[in-house]
Amino acid sequence: TFVIGAACVDVMDRACVEECPVDCIYTGGRMAYIHPTECVDCGACEPVCPVEAIYLDDDIPAGQQQFVAENERFFTEPLPGRDIALGSPGSAAKLGAVGADTAFVEAYQS
Ligand code: F3S
Ligand code: F3S
Repeated sequence: TFVIGAACVDVMDRACVEECPVDCIYTGGRMAYIHPTECVDCGACEPVCPVEAIYLDDDIPAGQQQFVAENERFFTEPLPGRDIALGSPGSAAKLGAVGADTAFVEAYQS
């Protein structure tokens, strides 16, 4: 699957969100996250990110590996202060901005 890495933190340009044909890029507080099972690996998002934050998970640069896990965790575990995980909402537009991050991203120093 495709994942969003460190360069998105505090930039969150959202050009990728517009581009995704299945609407599986969700906006958190500091960055956006790609849903690992809703993503159909079309790759349309990757070239439009102005800070080149998007990678195929296998190609994420050394030092950013944690972001592969965080893209998944954003959906599979409750975010800090919440009781239930987002799961598979099926549409980022329908869900709306999430406005929160995983604990790792919340604390991330870029
Ligand atoms: Fe969407 Fe990018 Fe996946 S455009 S389907 S998140 S590869
Ligand atoms: Fe982030 Fe780039 Fe998308 S900065 S929100 S991954 S266009």
